[in-house]
Amino acid sequence: MAVLDWQEIRRAAAIIRGGGLVAIPTETVYGLAADATNDRAVARIFEAKGRPRFNPLIVHVADVGAARAHAEFSPLALHLAEEFWPGPLTLVLPRRETSTLSRLVSAGLDTIALRAPAHDVARAVIEAAGLPLAAPSANPSGSISPTCAEHVRQSLGDRVDMILDGGRSVFGLESTIVKIDGQDATLLRLGAVAAADIERAIGKRLVRIRHGAAPVEAPGMLESHYAPEAQLRLNVRTPAATEAYLAFGAAPDGHPHTFSLSAAEDLREAAANFFAHLRAADALCKTARLEGISVAPIPVVGLGEAINDRLRRAAAAR
Ligand code: TXA
Ligand code: MG
Repeated sequence: MAVLDWQEIRRAAAIIRGGGLVAIPTETVYGLAADATNDRAVARIFEAKGRPRFNPLIVHVADVGAARAHAEFSPLALHLAEEFWPGPLTLVLPRRETSTLSRLVSAGLDTIALRAPAHDVARAVIEAAGLPLAAPSANPSGSISPTCAEHVRQSLGDRVDMILDGGRSVFGLESTIVKIDGQDATLLRLGAVAAADIERAIGKRLVRIRHGAAPVEAPGMLESHYAPEAQLRLNVRTPAATEAYLAFGAAPDGHPHTFSLSAAEDLREAAANFFAHLRAADALCKTARLEGISVAPIPVVGLGEAINDRLRRAAAAR
């Protein structure tokens, strides 16, 4: 949608106000949106995704002003919101007593995850609905995240009331999640804003939680996630002819099933292509009866850190 289609946006807003589910484009991935103040609407999100109830949702708002109705912003939280909103940074903050958000969105925690998305269509829907929107990624729980409307149609098409098409998601990876506790900032999920950029903005290191940390710290950060049906092999420079291959940099000579994440070794481009190529490689494994997917080494710097995080979870034993 190069030009905003206001008729479609008003229709989406009406569905959301009526307690329905609308898949919306965001700059990170597509989200499955519902009225975050409506228990039944939020419950429908969990049902549609097959998502465990202990895994809380991100609430999408227009700006810091709207976010402050629901959460306590410390000076550090305000600084981060001013620096990165609208955009792909989610802040986990103490919930305000007076917040009208459904208790289901935070799965019983006393914190709320909030972000102001940068995508025009997402922003227009938030404005037209006049509501905060709970929106997880619009995929069945545990599977590959959607970066275009067609991905949503394929996997959740019959479980949503409407899909808004806003083209391809430009970042292609979910938002980075940072939990703020006073002056402490903890990285809960690597994502579309590189951790180093956040550290530069706050002038200190983010606390990083260990692998397999307590479920309350990072609910939903399950080991197996983003999983294709095919088996995944990581850090492969020489793929077998019987495998699909996700290349980074020069593609191997004559390999018949290569998908190039970025020929120019550009991590932004690789991030934007990542989920779509993983999905296409998975589909090819099925139709061409290949043995699995192998993936080139991706440098663990900048957005490469988040790509490697997704790869590790996608390859994890299920
Ligand atoms: O880019 C994104 O963040 C996308 C788009 C649609 O905005 N959304 C997304 O949502 O990735 P989802 O549900 O797939 O991932 C949300 C993550 C989960 O890992 C969840 O556990 C975490 O956010 N989360 C939500 N609320 C939390 C809280 N109060 N404390 C800790 N983690 C929280
Ligand atoms: Mg997700």
